[in-house]
Amino acid sequence: MVQQPQLRAIEIGKSYGSFCALDSVSIDIQQGEFLTLLGPSGSGKTTFLMILAGFQNPSHGRLEEQGQDITRRPAEQRNFGMVFQGYALFPHMSIEDNVAFPLKIRGVKTEERNRRVRHMLDVVGLGEHRGKRPSELSGGQQQRVAIARALVFEPDMLLLDEPLSALDKNLREQLQAELQRIHRQIGTTFVFVTHDQNEALALSTRIAIFNRGQLAQIDTPHTIYNQPSNRFVAEFLGKMNLFPLSQMSRSGTHACGRYGEAELRAEPSLALDASAPLLAVRPEHMQLHTSVPSAEGHNVVQAVLTAKTYQGSCTELGLSTSADGTPPMSLAVHADHLAARLEHGAHVWLSWPIEKSLLLA
Ligand SMILES: Nc1ncnc2c1ncn2[C@@H]1O[C@H](COP(=O)(O)OP(=O)(O)OP(=O)(O)O)[C@@H](O)[C@H]1O
Ligand SMILES: [Mg+2]
Repeated sequence: MVQQPQLRAIEIGKSYGSFCALDSVSIDIQQGEFLTLLGPSGSGKTTFLMILAGFQNPSHGRLEEQGQDITRRPAEQRNFGMVFQGYALFPHMSIEDNVAFPLKIRGVKTEERNRRVRHMLDVVGLGEHRGKRPSELSGGQQQRVAIARALVFEPDMLLLDEPLSALDKNLREQLQAELQRIHRQIGTTFVFVTHDQNEALALSTRIAIFNRGQLAQIDTPHTIYNQPSNRFVAEFLGKMNLFPLSQMSRSGTHACGRYGEAELRAEPSLALDASAPLLAVRPEHMQLHTSVPSAEGHNVVQAVLTAKTYQGSCTELGLSTSADGTPPMSLAVHADHLAARLEHGAHVWLSWPIEKSLLLA
């Protein structure tokens, strides 16, 4: 039996005057998942989260929780925890009292309250700090208090809006691991907003990519990375080399198109009929050669080395290809690869397996 989604966002739209911040976004959120909303600044992530939380009303569409319409249900009647970018702790209260607050306003008795606060502070690793004020904690510790406070009343869902973005890199990575652990331990559904791609790839069971108020793609991190369904997703998440194709045709099981002198092949997709199809390939699937490589099962293009950036473990190469108007391809090679010692202007060949070639519209 297919499980009913915990929360269904159905064609959610939000307009501010004539400006459309969200355009018919539909997402089914499954019980227990770690769903990340990822997208550039202004793409509608916070707006969508606020609508889930009930802090904003959608202009169009419907929200259903376990099949019930909750579109107009006020925030305080939704059992959702919320963690914002700023920690928003009560500065005059101890850590313990901050975490106890949501239980107090729900009338939970003292003994039970103390038990749950202690448990939650242990979960986030702050048991020893319970008597301190927020100002006596580090940024990362404060954010953990905010997470404990949002989880202590056992919400049906935890909504987090860029909770780690104010932290430095090390602390952020530490808290990412912590969030994953808490999610595993508690099992609550997490809806997490970020514009950090690596954070999204590392944490999520699914990623929803937002672009200009629309849902560009929603899927597992693996599928989003390996099978982006459009150019925006392909370029937004990770590095991608793009080859504009012309004169599309089919040859056996492959789609073919011209790129300068070369004929490039890919698995056919709906983009075969697009007016300006692109062949996309991740740099890590490309190989660089100093003599003509075999084209058996591979696409091959000629290129000229135009840039070289040493980055410690690898060297990032910029490679200009024969066709006009295409930005240079980028490719990282191991720092002791032969190509890392080539001079600017050197003629090389790039090859990659046909099955690693994606055809995009
Ligand atoms: N109250 C408002 N009035 C008018 N426009 C708004 C309002 N709130 C948000 N917007 C606009 O809606 C769009 C989406 O905003 P939102 O805050 O959801 O973006 P975001 O994806 O969270 O961006 P960021 O990554 O910068 O936080 C933006 O263009 C924003 O300017
Ligand atoms: Mg935002």
